[in-house]
Amino acid sequence: MGQYTKHVFVCTFGTWCNHDGDTGAIVTRLNEAVEAAGLKGQVRINKSGCMNQCGHGPMVVVYPDNHWYAGVKPEDAEEIVATDIVGGQVVARLSYEAPPGDNKDLSRYPAEVVAAEQAKRQGARPA
Ligand code: FES
Repeated sequence: MGQYTKHVFVCTFGTWCNHDGDTGAIVTRLNEAVEAAGLKGQVRINKSGCMNQCGHGPMVVVYPDNHWYAGVKPEDAEEIVATDIVGGQVVARLSYEAPPGDNKDLSRYPAEVVAAEQAKRQGARPA
């Protein structure tokens, strides 16, 4: 048996999900909802790095159920906790289904944003 009944990861350290929404607020709201449900200590919310699904974020995944969510907003946190973590059901309107593996789609971002992020990675100043 694992340390937690559910382990939730929110892509907060990846480059791209932070362009899609307020990932820190998602973590905060999930933690608040878990505590309100009386599940603190049983359910763990973790900040994570990139999940290779960039362009679909903010991304959230619930383990061990392997339920993936895309385009999550802070105000979705209570529904994820109530429906998925407590109820064991997928939140259908947020459910993310894609082929296994890398599904990055940077075409969803403006070209200048992609160029600026790539320049940061290369240690250069954006043009
Ligand atoms: S930055 Fe979030 S999945 Fe890549």
